[in-house]
Amino acid sequence: QDNRFQAIISHAKEYGFVFPSSEIYDGLSAVYDYGPYGAELKKNIRDYWWRSMTQMHDNIVGIDAAIFMHPTTWKASGHVDNFSDPMIDNKDSKKRYRVDHLLEAKADQLRENGDAAGADALLASMDQLLAAEDFAGLKQLMNDHKIVCSVSGTANWTDIRQFNLMFSTQLGSVAEDADTIYLRPETAQGIFVNFLNVQKTARMKIPFGIAQTGKAFRNEIVARQFIFRMREFEQMEMQFFVRPGTQMEWYNFWKEERMKWHTSLGIPAEKYRYHDHVKLAHYADAALDIEYEFPFGFKEVEGIHSRTDFDLKSHQEYSKKKQQYFDADIDPATGKPYGNYIPYVVETSIGLDRMFLLVMSHAYDEETITKEDGSTDSRVVMRIPAKIAPNKLAILPLMKKEGLPEIAKELLNECKPHFKCFYEEKDAIGKRYRRQDAIGTPFCVTIDHQTKEDGTVTIRHRDSMVQERVAMKEVRRIVMEAL
Ligand code: GAP
Repeated sequence: QDNRFQAIISHAKEYGFVFPSSEIYDGLSAVYDYGPYGAELKKNIRDYWWRSMTQMHDNIVGIDAAIFMHPTTWKASGHVDNFSDPMIDNKDSKKRYRVDHLLEAKADQLRENGDAAGADALLASMDQLLAAEDFAGLKQLMNDHKIVCSVSGTANWTDIRQFNLMFSTQLGSVAEDADTIYLRPETAQGIFVNFLNVQKTARMKIPFGIAQTGKAFRNEIVARQFIFRMREFEQMEMQFFVRPGTQMEWYNFWKEERMKWHTSLGIPAEKYRYHDHVKLAHYADAALDIEYEFPFGFKEVEGIHSRTDFDLKSHQEYSKKKQQYFDADIDPATGKPYGNYIPYVVETSIGLDRMFLLVMSHAYDEETITKEDGSTDSRVVMRIPAKIAPNKLAILPLMKKEGLPEIAKELLNECKPHFKCFYEEKDAIGKRYRRQDAIGTPFCVTIDHQTKEDGTVTIRHRDSMVQERVAMKEVRRIVMEAL
């Protein structure tokens, strides 16, 4: 499985999906750039999420808030005081680690060695100690499991301390006694502070949601596993505002609804599972993760959190501006309107980069093909769901001459306003097919001499490699139907 993961990382780089950031300077740890096909795939995942939220739900609207926010936002949200992780330094290597990452790595190692029960017990103890903020207990747990620093090889650790994960910078020039501001560690607060602006201008009635996608920043220590845990990443979040007391109903609704979204991409349900949180974040009264079986095991891809009225109430306190909603619906218990209240919130929060890694992990396939003469060949095919594939159709004239490129370009011009096409003239057709397989293009069309005679082309299906002869004027419809 580790080989498979390494193969995916190499493939992502070789085929223009993901590059290490500023690679010519040897990269920047846990920061990545998206290449031509990566940028398309990422945008398609974002669009697919955005449409599912703001177009398919009549009661959800979108916003696009700034990354910088008033510094008091992060006091109110609890991030200044609570958004920290227990860290430990190795005295010999001077390397700093997140304690939970060290223990998780140990659990993975136990599991690999066949001790699944030991791994589960370790994680359960860790969860309990983290929830109790019992740092001495956590350090004891590290000692019990003989955890050493991977650089120095020693267990010469400092005490465990809390470190805040927010990045800070200065607003205005430093000389002018500038204010410290933070790069947002979650997009959610941009939604909370705009709650009334949105509710009033879009005339929303509870229950309703506000959706947003955008960058978030966390100073993760020991960021591992490629784009799984990054320091700069993108979130897709939706806060759903509900009447107090109905939050569990909506929590369960969104739990199901989000799983449907995942499986609607054709990713098998058995690759997913729910994981209920033991340790609740400072704002939540219930929380779970949707986990996916990545090549390195089941890990969180999305969180569903019942955030109560924690955020709005706290913003009301700090800003001294009422964050209430007037509910004119009649409460059957009293026969009167529900009246004024601070809504409760159920949140769905998914990392776009993590979803991207999920799609890459699902799609990557090294396939052995048996040819008609009995010999074998192999190919790497990215079985990316057609709806989100970077290119939908590759248009390939068999030869660079005899009028074939001209016909091919007619088809290109017809299709490209409707979906993303790729055009290529050079190299043998087999080689061109393989390159499209490697970037996950669901359809290839070849224009040959017969096209000139009867207007038909060969359409090749990526997954089955089946080729069929169809009228060129049908191609656009066939591709659109698959999308
Ligand atoms: N507003 C709630 C919130 O931010 P979270 O569980 O901290 O909750 C939500 O983050 C999602 O964001 C995670 O499920 C994950 O997909 C993504 N995420 C969080 N930290 C990340 C990181 N360092 N790199 C990539 N994705 C991350």
